[in-house]
This record gives sequence, C-alpha cells and structure tokens, in this order.
Amino acid sequence: MLLGLPTSGRLALSLLLLVNLGGFIAASFHLETHHQNRDERPGLSVDDLTGAYHGIRSQAPLRLALERNHPGEIDGSKSLDPSQKKRLLDWLDLDSVKMGEQYDSLDLGENAPAEILAAACVKCHSRGSTDAAAKKLPLEYLDDVKPIATSRDISPTDEKIMIASLHTHAISLATILILLTAMMFATRWSTMLRGGLPLLAALGLSVDLACWLLARSSPAFVYGIIAGGALFVAATGLMTLALVVDMWLPEAGKREL
Ligand code: HEC
Repeated sequence: MLLGLPTSGRLALSLLLLVNLGGFIAASFHLETHHQNRDERPGLSVDDLTGAYHGIRSQAPLRLALERNHPGEIDGSKSLDPSQKKRLLDWLDLDSVKMGEQYDSLDLGENAPAEILAAACVKCHSRGSTDAAAKKLPLEYLDDVKPIATSRDISPTDEKIMIASLHTHAISLATILILLTAMMFATRWSTMLRGGLPLLAALGLSVDLACWLLARSSPAFVYGIIAGGALFVAATGLMTLALVVDMWLPEAGKREL
C-alpha cells in the first residue's frame, strides 16, 4: 500500500508524479506552439494537425476562379482583361504580409487588387448585391478576400522524423503508464477506479499513436489523434490526482469510489 510507505517515500513519489504531470502540461503547450502556424492562421486548429500528420494541399478559391476566367462564363459578364488577371494572380503569389500591404496600396493606383476587385467583381460580390449566389461571397474588404486568397501546400512531418518521434513517445509514455498502473493497484481506491483509469489511459494512448500512422493515409484519423490524446491526458491526470490523494489521506478503511 502506498499509504504504508514512510513519509519521505510518499513525498518523493508525490513530487515525481506532479513533475510528470507538469511535463504533460508543458508538452501540450509545446504541441500548440509547435503546430499552430502550420496553416498560416492563428491558433491551433484541426487543419494545423491535419497539415502535420497528413498534409494539406488546396488551391486558393480566388485563384481557381480567375484561372477558369470567371466571371466570363456568366452571361453578360466579361472576363478580367489579361493584364489585370495577371496582376491578381501575381498578388496571390505573395506571402500574407505583403498581400496585406499591397491590397489597397496607393502607389499601385488602379492596379491595386482592391481597385481591380472593386471595378470588376464587387457589383456582384457585395453584401448589397442582387445576385444571391455571389452575395454569399462578398469581396469588398481585405478580410473578405483573405480567406479565399491563400493556397495551402502543407507537407506532413517527414516520415523519418515521425517514426523517431513515435518510438520515443511510445516507449516513454507506455513506461510511465505501466508504472502508474502498478501504483494504482497499491491504492485503496475501488477496483473500478484502479483498473478503469489505467485502461482509459492505455486506450487513449494506443488510439493516439496508431492514428499518427493511419493519418498519413487518411485525414479522418487526425480526429483519432485528438480524441485519443485527450483521453490519455485526462485519464493520466486523474490517476496522478488519485495517487497523490491516496498517499496523504489518513487511513479510513477502504475508499468507496
Ligand atoms: C456577374 C456577377 C459576377 C461577377 C462580375 C463576378 N462574379 Fe464571382 N461569382 C458569381 C456567382 C454567381 C458565383 C457563384 C457561382 C459560381 O461558383 O460560379 C461566383 C463565384 C465566385 C467565386 C467562388 C468560386 C468557387 O470556387 O466557389 C469566386 C472566388 C469568385 N466568384 C470571384 C470573383 C472575382 C475575383 C470576380 C472579379 C474578377 C468575380 N467573381 C466577378 C458572380 C459574379
């Protein structure tokens, strides 16, 4: 029983358990800063993780529309003239900071993207437009245009790096779980809790790591990485708490939970 250990031993174990938990918390922050900018949009999103584990390749909808000479296909509308079309396509090649700078740059005059869009597109693509389909995609402000202006070509993490990372994660996390599991069975908690929490953590870890591999072939498995990882962290956190509490709660017979 953990409670039977001398105070020094319980103190040492409690500190180590909390340090370990702190490590997991630090790791989740690392995960956030490490992956969050992969899709060039702030914050950690599913797309960031999809980019890292599967890769994302998509063309900017604005580029696709220009390349198929939209709005020329619509009756009574003509395509952009080729020089303006080229200006917009060149603008789409810039990085997002430069895009923002040049969008309505006074130096560019009529050739500024904002001016070209205003002259050729906004009559349909505005909030007050009578064209019901085009109205859904206003092109009046930079904030309207940006989301459809970025192409994305995010390569997944190199396979060798992923395998190296997978093996260190698999071995170290499974080792910790084996220890935590053994310790849980030295507590006074009920069998359901002693076996249940380790089982949940083990399931979470297995699903998470398996999905690292599976996500390379299908992006749907990225949700498995997220769900498995969340389950693993939650169950491990609860186990840590259960262990520390059990080590310090005075003996009062068997716990009921
Ligand atoms: C005559 C009205 C009209 C004009 C002018 C017009 N559009 Fe459109 N646009 C539409 C309509 C209607 C749709 C929705 C149907 C479709 O996808 O073709 C659309 C769709 C789009 C889409 C979405 C296409 C997709 O892949 O979903 C983009 C991007 C777009 N327009 C950009 C532009 C740009 C840039 C200009 C100016 C160069 C422009 N449009 C001018 C009517 C117009």
